[in-house]
Amino acid sequence: MSAGKESNHLKITIVGHVDHGKSTVIGRLFYETGSLPEGKFESIKAMCDRRGMPFEWAFLMDALKSERDQGITIDAAQIHFSTPARHYTIIDAPGHKEFLKNMITGAANASAALLVIDAKEGVREQSKRHGFLLSLLGIKQVAVLINKMDLVDYSESRYNEIVTEYTAYLQSLDLVAQSYIPISAREGDLITAASENMPWYKGDSIVGTLDQFTPPLPVDTQPLRFPVQDVYKFDDRRIIAGRIESGTLNVGDELVFSPSNKSSKIHSIEWFPSPEKPIMQAKAGQSVGITLEEQIFVERGDVASLQEDAPFETRTFRARLFWIGKEALTVGQSYKMKLATAEIQVRVEQIERVVDVENLSVASSEPSKAVTAVKRHEIADVIIRAERMCALDDYRQNPIMGRFVLVDGYEQAGGGIISTEGYEDQRGKTQIVSKNITRVDHQVTIADRATAFGHKSGILWFTGLSGSGKSTLAIALETELFNKGYKVYVLDGDNIRHGLCSDLGFSPEDRTENIRRVGEVAKVMARAGFLVITAFISPYEADRERVRQIAPEFFHEVHIQASLETCESRDAKGLYKKARAGEIKDFTGISAPYEAPVQADLVIDTNNKSVNESVHSLIEYVDQHFSS
Ligand code: ADX
Repeated sequence: MSAGKESNHLKITIVGHVDHGKSTVIGRLFYETGSLPEGKFESIKAMCDRRGMPFEWAFLMDALKSERDQGITIDAAQIHFSTPARHYTIIDAPGHKEFLKNMITGAANASAALLVIDAKEGVREQSKRHGFLLSLLGIKQVAVLINKMDLVDYSESRYNEIVTEYTAYLQSLDLVAQSYIPISAREGDLITAASENMPWYKGDSIVGTLDQFTPPLPVDTQPLRFPVQDVYKFDDRRIIAGRIESGTLNVGDELVFSPSNKSSKIHSIEWFPSPEKPIMQAKAGQSVGITLEEQIFVERGDVASLQEDAPFETRTFRARLFWIGKEALTVGQSYKMKLATAEIQVRVEQIERVVDVENLSVASSEPSKAVTAVKRHEIADVIIRAERMCALDDYRQNPIMGRFVLVDGYEQAGGGIISTEGYEDQRGKTQIVSKNITRVDHQVTIADRATAFGHKSGILWFTGLSGSGKSTLAIALETELFNKGYKVYVLDGDNIRHGLCSDLGFSPEDRTENIRRVGEVAKVMARAGFLVITAFISPYEADRERVRQIAPEFFHEVHIQASLETCESRDAKGLYKKARAGEIKDFTGISAPYEAPVQADLVIDTNNKSVNESVHSLIEYVDQHFSS
């Protein structure tokens, strides 16, 4: 294997209905690219002659498989072939359950796929399932092989029919096939070259198409990810040890450790056993120990990276899970997540949909019928919340940092891949950009103000769906408290978005910034002696948590609770109707998430309560906590 080819290696999978010719395609590919073991083709042909049966290309595949099963030339789940341009590994799986499990848990990893459809039989249920399977795994490089063209007289119109039908189906899955290649695996049409039988087809052959697919970037040129395995103390040195999962590190590089966000330059790279001369660089795949210029606190589970390409930081993310636990996975239950070297306690907050692996269909995705469990061998899209900040990557960006294992008790019970879509990177959200700034102390203290105003100050942070009653209750409460002598003021979402936050929309990033600004304003007002009532959806727990962190002495989280149905039936502003009609995108509760507080300081359930009743409960709470 030449070095050039080695770095240009593509793992592919071939899927298709059993009778649509998958094995024949593989047999042909091996033969035409000269990838068969020496004498294999001749020996199988001779065997067929001896037994008086016609030669079938699929026999080659079977022969390769049986050798594989005996572990002679081909390793467990993978077989290899080469074209002049590069090496290929075909990841084959006995069934799609195993295949999905291998792909999701990382045992196998294909980045392109061939999908075989029989030209005569056309698109079958199985062909659809296989398309769905590819979409589940996020494989975007797909070529559809329309096989057995010889059986339909190499008909262009039959080809077009199938292309139209299958394109429409893939579209419904958000998938686009790079090409549709009419082939005859049995006759050898369009395997490696153009076919005289189909002069109307101007596209590439299978091999030509495969050679144009892009392999993943070599792992050492990807952003640096160095998960810390252990920290050893030797004399006065502390050696940080781990395996470089991607990227390259050099002496002198400034590393940032996530999620602690501490940074320092690399002082030295150490090997075990220690080397003769200093090592200046280490790459993905190597296990190394490094020392830092500064003594910062680093622990197992931290991930080192370069500042400009650091991993995503979040406590909440979306994942696609393959569950193998004996006990079903349930919403709210706590599990240990292993992600690179980190171990973090997590729970599943929501199950968005469950896929029936047997027949590859969506078992349940209706929002009204909330799914609360995932059974053994099911695949599910879930929202996971960790008990602390995690450093991770979207699976598509970095397969190692984008993959995790869940442990239930002592057993490995599931594997999953991460999507960060819809979630905001929390990195740097509390960092201060400016340098050379110093605080000025007030002479009038917060306590002085409380004494003068006759009550303590604070923030009543109302969170809840649009239409849950936040603004109504905030305004009613403000009036009552004002009349009782409180210095009180309401900050309301719709109002603030007319001024301070008029530049912000409703993307996750903008909402985060909205809440950050309001949190800071509320804190200033609370320091000025006010009782501040805020009425913002504030759908992300991480955002509310950050406000709590910047103003822990003031912050009271109040969940104004009403079911989506209640809010939608109120629909005072007519926004739900518009959102349902698709006129408002990212609408909370409909097309954007709402993360309800887990431990609010106060919950006001407005489903069946009058405004007066709710205000009464709120006044009670205020008198209890703020009267001095
Ligand atoms: S937050 O998510 O950033 O906290 P905020 O409370 O400021 O939202 O604003 C919510 C108000 O904006 C809603 O009450 C509603 O009137 C209006 N709104 C307009 N578009 C949206 C949307 N896509 N999602 C939620 N609310 C929206």
